[in-house]
Amino acid sequence: MCGIVGYIGNKPAVDILLEGLTNLEYRGYDSAGVAVNVEGKVELYKAEGKLQNLKNIVQEKYEHISKSVIGIGHIRWATHGVPSVTNAHPHTCNCGKVAIVHNGIIENYKELRAKLEANGCTFRSQTDTETIAHLVASKYAQTKDLTEAVRIATKEIEGAYAIAVIHQDVKNTIVATRRNAPLVIGFGEGENFVASDVPALIQYTKKAMYLDDNQIVTLTPDSVKVIDENNNSIPLKIENLPWEPVALSKMGYKHFMLKEIHEQPDIVRNVLTGKLKNIDENISLSEVTLDKDKLKDLKRIQIVACGTSLHAALVGKYIIEELCGIPVDVEASSEYIYRTTITDENTLVIGVSQSGETADTITAIRQAKKKGSHILIVTNRPDSTMAREADSLVPVNAGIEVSVAATKSYMAQVISFYLLAIYMAEIKNSASKEELIKIKHELIVLPQKIEQILNHKSDIQKCAKAFSGHKDFIFIARGINYATALEGALKLKEISYINATGYSAGELKHGPIAMLDESMPVLSILMKGKVYEKILSNAEEAKARNAKLIAVTNSDDIKLDELFDSIIRVPDIEEILSPALAIVPLQLLAYYIAEFLGKDVDQPRNLAKSVTVE
Ligand code: G6P
Repeated sequence: MCGIVGYIGNKPAVDILLEGLTNLEYRGYDSAGVAVNVEGKVELYKAEGKLQNLKNIVQEKYEHISKSVIGIGHIRWATHGVPSVTNAHPHTCNCGKVAIVHNGIIENYKELRAKLEANGCTFRSQTDTETIAHLVASKYAQTKDLTEAVRIATKEIEGAYAIAVIHQDVKNTIVATRRNAPLVIGFGEGENFVASDVPALIQYTKKAMYLDDNQIVTLTPDSVKVIDENNNSIPLKIENLPWEPVALSKMGYKHFMLKEIHEQPDIVRNVLTGKLKNIDENISLSEVTLDKDKLKDLKRIQIVACGTSLHAALVGKYIIEELCGIPVDVEASSEYIYRTTITDENTLVIGVSQSGETADTITAIRQAKKKGSHILIVTNRPDSTMAREADSLVPVNAGIEVSVAATKSYMAQVISFYLLAIYMAEIKNSASKEELIKIKHELIVLPQKIEQILNHKSDIQKCAKAFSGHKDFIFIARGINYATALEGALKLKEISYINATGYSAGELKHGPIAMLDESMPVLSILMKGKVYEKILSNAEEAKARNAKLIAVTNSDDIKLDELFDSIIRVPDIEEILSPALAIVPLQLLAYYIAEFLGKDVDQPRNLAKSVTVE
């Protein structure tokens, strides 16, 4: 959701800005722009739609634009005002000397705008961001110091922001700051960078520093200075980034999503490494700092998350309740934060987030922390805001995920929940050793089973082709795979825009069955175990209403061939582990349907990878 890149150094800034923005495209956006300083004058270039539109504009005047060695760039995901060239960033003050890019939402922008207008500023856009450009310009007029202007301007701003600013009269400087939105500084030789995320700078430098809330950074080609909101100097904490630039390559796959689906066997192995060493040994989760006695005394667990992470949390609930006997509530972070939540020091609150930057989940965990709960974060980004606020951090090691539709990060979150649940069950002594050994064994062989599905993906491709003409889908499951039905349906709607809904199969007859006819396929997640026969009956009920039936199953019962129009068979697996396997064909089905329909698989419309506004 919105992406910022800033560059100052010795190379044509526009090249680095456009490359950086390309590597942030996964965040989701609907317009783009850059500001450069060519021969002492700030110039803006903006375009609606895909980055390629901006690249085409830049190409026409490349010789001129490339003279600038300083610049800021932005991809915008519209919040205030429609996607348009006027609303695209960068925004400027009236004299055009200040240019600013912003990620986040300025909550008091209406009041600020009224004040600025009363002082003679003329607004061109409908955005909240433009207020910051005018505000910084007015503060610069008083202070003649860009860093100071940004510092005092931000004191008047309420809300979330990461911003980067240049000023025509300060040719050698970029100033950037943040509050509740991510910002990372990259250190080079004779050049420095600032960006909302690592992919924008990883190919130029691995030396980076994450800015904290309210810190302000001043970049020149040869220096980086950080201060806090009270003008105190902050020592530089430079870290070596773990990411490899190769993570941003499709490695021969047509889309990042397909590549990431194929990475899942290795992701499972990665997550298990060092934690599950041997089936006879206890799980080691050194990252969980919750005192073992406290863990034994836990009265309840609350899990907060959004989107795909919420579905991983639902799987987590099932496993933890099954193995640990602790009641677990799962709630969408956006609901959790606007009601009276009962939580205290005997409650463990788990935040699950691929990005670690989702605004609603950050707010939820902060609320719970204030009430004394231990905060455990399951995230793919140990460098994120949530990770830094965690009491315990379970990093899921899925590597960078570029496709907006989450696949491998979901797998890594689900596997992390198995480890966490076994870890707690071993401390609490709440499950039999045999049961835990069985699960550990299944976890170890899971990657091969996923590989078997990937090796037979042509069957899934055929099924996708046969069903790609349908406008609506229902996914049904029960028990632990209810979450799989929700996640499978979410994948399909995210990337193909087909109206797909997941239901618990028992609920079908309480309403959804009214919609069934030959135009509405019903996909059953039919994994062997407690609820197998029940789901089969629910599928029969759908058949009786002429619905076309698809099954994802680990059963080899040939009778299923009579009932179902299409069967996707997966390797056999213990029921408790089945969500980790059953989701893979659903990811592939969604992928192939979207591909047949010619959709923009990696960057679906209206979606953002990292939702940094509430
Ligand atoms: C966005 C993404 C989803 C993701 C959700 C939660 O909506 O498009 O793929 O599941 O945010 O994000 P998080 O980073 O907290 O897991």
